[in-house]
Amino acid sequence: MRPTEAKDLPVAQKAPDPHSVRPPGGFPLLGDGLPVPGAPAQASRPVRLRLDDDGMADVDADVPAAVGRLLADLLDERVERAAALDPVFGHDLAERVAAFTLEGGKRMRSRFVWWALRACGGGPAEAEAALRVGAALELIQTCALVHDDVMDGSPLRRGRPVLHADVAAQYAGAVPRDRGRRFGEAAAILAGDLALAWADDTVAALEVDADTARRVRDLWSTMRTEMVAGQYLDLQGQVTSSVSLARAVRAACLKSALYSVERPLALGAALAGADAARAAALCSAGRCVGIAFQLRDDLADVFGDPAHTGKPAGGDIRAGKPTYLAAVARARAEATGDRRALAVLRRSPGRADLPDSRLGEVRDVLVTTGARDVVEAKIERLVAQGMRHLDSAPLEPRARGRLRELLRAAAGTAPVPAPGPGGADQGVPVSALLTVGSEGGVR
Ligand code: IPE
Ligand code: MG
Ligand code: MG
Ligand code: MG
Repeated sequence: MRPTEAKDLPVAQKAPDPHSVRPPGGFPLLGDGLPVPGAPAQASRPVRLRLDDDGMADVDADVPAAVGRLLADLLDERVERAAALDPVFGHDLAERVAAFTLEGGKRMRSRFVWWALRACGGGPAEAEAALRVGAALELIQTCALVHDDVMDGSPLRRGRPVLHADVAAQYAGAVPRDRGRRFGEAAAILAGDLALAWADDTVAALEVDADTARRVRDLWSTMRTEMVAGQYLDLQGQVTSSVSLARAVRAACLKSALYSVERPLALGAALAGADAARAAALCSAGRCVGIAFQLRDDLADVFGDPAHTGKPAGGDIRAGKPTYLAAVARARAEATGDRRALAVLRRSPGRADLPDSRLGEVRDVLVTTGARDVVEAKIERLVAQGMRHLDSAPLEPRARGRLRELLRAAAGTAPVPAPGPGGADQGVPVSALLTVGSEGGVR
C-alpha cells in the first residue's frame, strides 16, 4: 500500500495534479477541483450502528473487533477525502495515520470506555456513542505516540520504524540525509495533528443528548490538555535532569494515567449517565491503576525484552528520562551514601551514545539500590487501591469483573486468564495487554 521510495510516488501517473489547474476568471482560495467544505459531495457517510441485544452481546464478546470495524469505516472515508484534497498528502500522511491506528495497539482505552459504560448500566441506546468515543481515543493515541516518538527520538514503535523514520526512509533517495530526517519529523508533527483533528471531529459528531454532550466535551477537552501538560513535564524534567519523586509521579499521572485509563472510564460513565458515586469510583480506580500503568511502562523500558516491548531497551536511560524509577534509585543511593551508585546515576543517564556495558551498569544500580523492587511494590499497592475503589460503588457485577481484569492487565499484575467459553471480550486476550508482540506495544 505504501511505496518506500520517492520515485514510486503515484501522483503523476494516477491523478492530475489539482494544483496545476487554473480556473477561468481568477484564483479562488480553495483552488479549482478542491472540495468545498459542506458541499454535498463531501458530506461524511456516518456508519450507523443499531445494536439490539444480540449486537450488544457481540460487542461484549469482542470490543476491539467492534471498535476496529468502526475505525476501518471511519478511516476509509477520511483517507479517501484526504486523497481527493491531494494525492501526495493522502498517500504520505493520511494513509500512514490510518495504518498506524488500524494496525497497532490493544484497544485498551476503547475497552475501558465500553466496560465503564456497561458497569454503569449503559445499553443499546448508548452503545454507538461509546464505540465512537473509543475510536476517537484510539486516534488520540495515534497522535500521542507519533508526537512522542519525535520528542523522545525513538527509533522503533510496536517493533517497526517510527512514523517519522518511515517518512524519512521514503524520501531517502531524493533528499540529503539531514534534511530528510528533519522532514520526517515535520511530517510526523502534521500526521499527529491530523489524527488529533480526526479524533476531535469524531467526538464533535456524537449524537447524544445535550447534557451528555456537555459532559463528554468537558472531559475530552480536559484530557487533551492534561496529556500535553504531562508530556511537557516529562521533557522539562529530562532537560533539567530532575530527580524529584513528586514530579515524576505527577508527570506519569498527567502524561499517561489520565488519558489512558481514568478519562476513558469517566467517558464511559458519562455516556451511561452514571451517578456521582459510580463515576467517582471509576475515576479513582483509573487514577491509581493509570499511574501503575506508566510505572510498568518505565520498568519495561529498562528491563523488558525488546521482542515484547517493541522498542529498544534502555531508551529512557539514554534519553535521561525523569522517571519515578530513576528518582527512587537516586533518593535511595543518597540516603544510604552509596557513592558508586550515585556516580553511575550522575554520569550515564542522558547520554545518547551510552554503550551497552554502561547501560548494564545503570540497570544493576536500579536493582542494587532496591529501586526496581520499590517500583514493583508501588505498582502492587496502586492496583490494590484501585481495586478497592472499584468495589466501593454498586457497579454491574459482570462488567466490574471485566474492568478488574483489564485494569490488572494494564498494570502488568494480572494472572493470565484462562480463555472463556465464548463471550467476555475474548477478541484480544486480556493477557495480551501485558506483553507486546509483533502486533502491538504496551501502549
Ligand atoms: C508517552 O510516554 C506518553 C504519551 C504518549 C502521551 P512514554 O514516552 O513513556 O511512552 P513510550 O515508552 O514511548 O511508549
Ligand atoms: Mg516515548
Ligand atoms: Mg515520552
Ligand atoms: Mg515509556
